Amino acid sequence: MTSFCAIILAAGEGKRMKSRLPKVLHPVCDRPMVNYVVAAARALAPKKIIVVIGRAHKQVRDVLDKGVAVAVQDKPCGTADAVKSAVKEIPSSVKDVVILYGDTPLIRRQTLETLYAHHREANAVCTVLTTHLANPRGYGRILRNPSGQVIGIIEEKEATQVQRAIREVNTGMYVFSKDDLLEGLGHVRPAKKSGEFYLTDVLSWFFQKGLKIDACVAEESEEVLGVNAQMELLTATHVLRRRVLERHMEAGVVLMDAATIFIDATAVIGEETVVYPFTYIEKNVTIGRRCSVGPFCHLREGAVLEDGVRVGNYTEIKNSTLGRGTRMGHVSYLGDTTVGKNVNIGAGTVVANFDGKKKSRTAIGDRAFIGCDAVLIAPVVVGKDAVVGAGSVVTRHHNVADKSVVAGVPAQPLKKTKNK
Ligand code: UD1
Ligand code: MG
Repeated sequence: MTSFCAIILAAGEGKRMKSRLPKVLHPVCDRPMVNYVVAAARALAPKKIIVVIGRAHKQVRDVLDKGVAVAVQDKPCGTADAVKSAVKEIPSSVKDVVILYGDTPLIRRQTLETLYAHHREANAVCTVLTTHLANPRGYGRILRNPSGQVIGIIEEKEATQVQRAIREVNTGMYVFSKDDLLEGLGHVRPAKKSGEFYLTDVLSWFFQKGLKIDACVAEESEEVLGVNAQMELLTATHVLRRRVLERHMEAGVVLMDAATIFIDATAVIGEETVVYPFTYIEKNVTIGRRCSVGPFCHLREGAVLEDGVRVGNYTEIKNSTLGRGTRMGHVSYLGDTTVGKNVNIGAGTVVANFDGKKKSRTAIGDRAFIGCDAVLIAPVVVGKDAVVGAGSVVTRHHNVADKSVVAGVPAQPLKKTKNK
């Protein structure tokens, strides 16, 4: 494979977002937009990834992983100028340059692979990824001559009425031959209306010089959405959420109402588990097989449900493991807790894991029975087969012995062994 590098433009002001946060840092499903583009670029295995950030937006650097190079654009005066800022970072050995924009978080690696393969075969100086949109508003339009050859891209602001009616648009993803790109950049002049230096103008220059431009048409226009305003951010979020839900459904998870279930992309869920409406599953959550989750359940970071666990209405679990077959049906909170197998957590049970200064852990042994409305103040251990009576408050360090029964406020042993 010929060597190539990728440049991701992320230095724009993002004025249309009406926010002080740099546009590419706006999160889509809890992850900054630009990181999706970096991940898709990385999957292509380029020799180097260069992200162009704005001088005024140094915080963008903080979310980028160490493996990427950063170039700084002094003033956001157009995409051609942004690429120019990255030129000194382009390795001299590469033949091609893939250019992507940091505001297209839905792009999939397969589409970029297709674009790159297309470029290699077409033997063009530039291959642009295009798509057809019913409503092309805001995008650059692809200009073709009567024989269908791409002759340039016209930005909406600069376009005539007739050109605006074109529905084939520029997705902002291209492969360029490096030498031609570098030459073309030198010929870009400020656009008539906006005064910006458009990368898209390099293509018209190629055409004038008789150099071949090719287009690769993306069938799935959804994945090339450019996020310029809040509404598009929401659309991107919906698409990414749906992708996660689809992945789980394909793997045999039953989702009772995809519209109200939020599942972070990092969550792992086993087959035949049923997730009920209004459930929110955050990052790094692991759920086993045949579990029942929700409705109205909040699984936070570090929640682990082993096979056959049942967590019901208004339950919240953070950084805790629930062993096989454990049940926690209603209105309960577990934080920093290790729960054994086949435990019953009664309605209203709360683990008090924070004393105002630090978090402490709680352990509940196999087959223990925690009565309704109990409070367990961490750090504390409830032994195997133990019973904590309804309404009890088990105070910190007052561990409950295996098989014992405690009740009251503060909880005291009632009798020596559990009466089976
Ligand atoms: C751009 C394309 C348009 C295409 C659309 C696809 C140009 C001139 N226009 O328009 O043809 O249909 O994307 O989504 O390329 N950026 C910089 N520095 C700048 C300006 C922009 O780094 O000076 C970055 C932005 O952060 C953004 C990307 O380049 O990630 C594209 O800029 P944006 O302003 O979003 O361009 P669009 O109007 O969407
Ligand atoms: Mg854009």
